[in-house]
Amino acid sequence: MGNCCTGSAKCANASTPFESKVTSRSTASNNSNSTTTANKLASRRSIGSSSALSGQIAGSDVQVQAASAGTGAGAGLKSFSMSELRAATKNFGSTSYLGEGGFGCVYKGWIDEATLAPTRPGVGRMVAIKKLKEESFQGHREWLAEVTYLGQLHHANLVTLVGYCSDSGANKLLVYEYVLRGSLENHLFRRATQPLSWPMRVSIAIDVARGLAFLHSRDDSPVIFRDLKSSNVLLDSDYRAKLSDFGLARNGPTGDKSHVSTRVVGTRGYAAPEYIVTGHLSTKSDVYSFGVVLLELMTGRRAVDDARGGSAATLVDWAYPQLGDRRKVIRIMDTRLGGQYPKKQAQEVAALALRCLQNDPKNRPAMADAVLPELEQLQQHNSHKSSSYTSSTPAPVHGQPGRRHSKSKS
Ligand SMILES: Nc1ncnc2c1ncn2[C@@H]1O[C@H](COP(=O)(O)OP(=O)(O)OP(=O)(O)O)[C@@H](O)[C@H]1O
Ligand SMILES: [Mg+2]
Repeated sequence: MGNCCTGSAKCANASTPFESKVTSRSTASNNSNSTTTANKLASRRSIGSSSALSGQIAGSDVQVQAASAGTGAGAGLKSFSMSELRAATKNFGSTSYLGEGGFGCVYKGWIDEATLAPTRPGVGRMVAIKKLKEESFQGHREWLAEVTYLGQLHHANLVTLVGYCSDSGANKLLVYEYVLRGSLENHLFRRATQPLSWPMRVSIAIDVARGLAFLHSRDDSPVIFRDLKSSNVLLDSDYRAKLSDFGLARNGPTGDKSHVSTRVVGTRGYAAPEYIVTGHLSTKSDVYSFGVVLLELMTGRRAVDDARGGSAATLVDWAYPQLGDRRKVIRIMDTRLGGQYPKKQAQEVAALALRCLQNDPKNRPAMADAVLPELEQLQQHNSHKSSSYTSSTPAPVHGQPGRRHSKSKS
């Protein structure tokens, strides 16, 4: 693919921004086709009131050092110069280009393992470098949120931020560990990719649940990811999943509060209905988005696919009525699985998705106390009796119970 950031072309896989109209189920139990005009939704790239772990993200000119004062944010991250990153990416050339999102283009680069200095291709450690596009309206806020959150949060199921670049000009970049297999979105929806087997999909769901449980369970204040979707789940060489893109993350409620009030940002098809309508954000908003990702893993269909038309365009509207009926679940499963999945396990995942997608956030299960242990149990239970079940697709490299990642806090 060409180098999008030097031209005006928009890449096809860039995320769909919110629109002023969203379709939502009117009750938890019906499949309403009604289109609800929610309050005008801000653009995907518009942040009104993001705050970062220990302090408010201030204006655009605030540097990492100021944001991180006293918080530890940014500590341990390398501050790269623009010339170093040019050297690492062959001047952001088309051969280094990986893809494009709302923030900007992403390039592959090479740095020395020990010194983090740029090297030549094939030497040292591979990194992914995101370059804020000039026309990005609020991109600097997202850039700062990424540095602030990922500077402090470390976990096997979160992407690692290696460093950043913020020069005196408008250049804002982020340097991440390179996650070899790219996004879950590409693996689920690109026809050219080999289908993920069912055990892989369950493992990926568990990894995502681990990442979210870690964020939601922080002692001082929960962190709400706010932008969970399959394009923000990256898969490493062993198909371990990592959450990426913390530009919209923000601190959750503390004490007795059930939510924080914010401007509505996120991605159509994934955002929780109450958040879209009221701006009330809670950890349960992430649980809803997780339910949508579970549906994508089960069905192989996109959260929103306007080409399908009507209620079939929105995955939740299309799948929801089938989730509570164990016999109907089989009808919505991804045909690329070729029927190679244990039916009972698929029904259990469907039942969990149904709970995650409840309209009332109070009725959704918590990530750490319910979703994660239930998925782990389901996986473990199946591995004991999987001798009668074989997958037609390559066996997952990971997914063995007992060899999962452990939590680590910074
Ligand atoms: N750390 C990484 N390692 C490897 N590839 C990456 C990494 N980060 C991003 N990519 C690639 O770059 C592409 C664009 O990523 P990006 O996060 O900018 O956009 P997006 O997730 O598609 O959209 P959005 O801006 O809404 O998050 C991804 O599809 C992925 O293939
Ligand atoms: Mg992304």
